[in-house]
Amino acid sequence: MEIIRARDYDHMSRQAANILSAQVILHPDSVLGLATGSSPIGTYRQLIKWYEKGDIDFRRVRTVNLDEYVGLAADHPQSYAHFMRVNFFDHINIDLKNTNIPDGTNADDEEECARYNAVIRKLGGVNLQLLGIGPNGHIGFNEPGDCFVKGTHKVELTDATIHANKRFFDSVDDVPRYAYSMGILDIMQAERVVMVASGENKADAVRDAFFGPVTPRVPASILQLHKNFTLVADEAALSKC
Ligand code: F6R
Repeated sequence: MEIIRARDYDHMSRQAANILSAQVILHPDSVLGLATGSSPIGTYRQLIKWYEKGDIDFRRVRTVNLDEYVGLAADHPQSYAHFMRVNFFDHINIDLKNTNIPDGTNADDEEECARYNAVIRKLGGVNLQLLGIGPNGHIGFNEPGDCFVKGTHKVELTDATIHANKRFFDSVDDVPRYAYSMGILDIMQAERVVMVASGENKADAVRDAFFGPVTPRVPASILQLHKNFTLVADEAALSKC
């Protein structure tokens, strides 16, 4: 496990963007695993800037997103599909046909999870997976539990996650209770994993995940066992380590 210490959010975002841009420049048809939320927004912004300067070409890049809320259509303003377009895809030359996100409108969860697992398999897996971390140690929507779940699955969000994510919705009642999420095995099978973590509210999760035992109670802790994992975290997120 490698740790890159960043001064603050902007520095963290540039460091993570460096790693992603190197991946795309060296392997233009890379499969990128992508995350939503506030942590990777700065990384996406930096990549957009470099794209605008002509330094990166996303034409052949393929993507799989980690997760999506069950019940939200792709055009819903809080859906992760919408987030990805507004914060990244609409600003670069990626072919939207090469982007993949679980379909939150598919009420048949077995069918949707099987479909998404097949999408990941058909792409041949993920070359570089970008992650954030929840204040409770979740990755994707793999919430703390008794075991690690391998593939894409439907998750009942914990109260902690519902409360952490209510800032994006009008009220806590509007936060969906379920999500589809890639599993831990999907994430662990990525060739390289990069996590961005910023702010004091991530300090407990970062300490428990990377300086404590590997346990499904702290899902991100499994990354200690990944052969090519980089944590890019700012001083505040590392303040309890
Ligand atoms: C989102 C995702 C989540 C977030 C986590 C942190 O696709 O996978 O695991 O990374 O909830 O969210 P932020 O970055 O908003 O603190």
